Amino acid sequence: MPNIATARDRLLAMPSVELGALPTPIDAAWRLRDAIGMGGRLFVKRDDALPFGFGGNKVRKLTLVGAEARDQGADTLITCGGVQSNHCRATAAAAAKLGMSCHIVANGTRPTHPTGNARLLQLLGAEVTYVNDRTERNPTMQRVAEELRAAGQSPYVIPLGASNPLGAMGFARGVGELVHQGFVPDVIISASSSGGTQAGLIAGCALFEMKSRVIGISADDPVEEIGRVVAEISEGMEDRLGLAHGTLGGRARFEADASFVGEGYGVPTEASREAQGLAAHSEALFTDHWYTAKALAAVVAYGRSGQFKDGDTVLFWHTGGQVGVLA
Ligand SMILES: Cc1ncc(COP(=O)(O)O)c(C=O)c1O
Repeated sequence: MPNIATARDRLLAMPSVELGALPTPIDAAWRLRDAIGMGGRLFVKRDDALPFGFGGNKVRKLTLVGAEARDQGADTLITCGGVQSNHCRATAAAAAKLGMSCHIVANGTRPTHPTGNARLLQLLGAEVTYVNDRTERNPTMQRVAEELRAAGQSPYVIPLGASNPLGAMGFARGVGELVHQGFVPDVIISASSSGGTQAGLIAGCALFEMKSRVIGISADDPVEEIGRVVAEISEGMEDRLGLAHGTLGGRARFEADASFVGEGYGVPTEASREAQGLAAHSEALFTDHWYTAKALAAVVAYGRSGQFKDGDTVLFWHTGGQVGVLA
């Protein structure tokens, strides 16, 4: 059974495609820290500023998933999400850059005047099939893939959020990027939904031997559901890296908070509105009500209730979504 150092080498040796320049900046956010009135030091990992295709967390996942698709000879990427999905936009952007076609299965109704990510999908040339319900997404992706295969094409299906073990490896590499930048926070806080980002961050901390806490702030699902998915992805990563189950800590180090969701996915809360305003006014940092403003609302609440002590280094991992601000 390989040790952590060997697994880390395996992670870093995985084939990847280049989608925009990494590393992303780590910005000090003193004005936001003071506006919150929190203890400790606050930094922001700017994956929103990733220069490829309006950036965001999905780009890291797609560097590895896109390489596997390319190496398997795929000519079309298929994936799914909501009408304003950041993941679908990032996948369509990756397909364009890799010279592939893209087919999106979106739950919701076709917008008459597409805005935000829906407009970008159009510009990127993605074909979109609309379905009524989230449960129809997977069977529809399979049907589209079969139809394309029957027509002689080579589709590659990417699951929701690219949240499989391979996609999560992109985030484990992101932790390596942090270490390379000489930055070791006490706590990392980010938005969490389909689990790949959080599983990758937790695994990255194990692989790069960082003790940082990783707290996922739910955009929609209950803590138990995210925990189940994170553990499953984590075990899949262990399998791929040849590690024993449990080595990456997907279960033991999992921490999440679903108390910032409010009335539901994408519905602003008083706290997310306040956090969004504070970040924009103090740092010109833009966050959306689906994911990042709710995650930032947690930083605000934890900071105000004294959970961060002087000397603590807090990293808000900004996962993107700024396109949604204009949707
Ligand atoms: C901006 C943004 N932040 C966070 C997330 C959540 O990431 P994950 O699905 O890997 O948990 C998403 C997912 O779509 C997203 O678009």
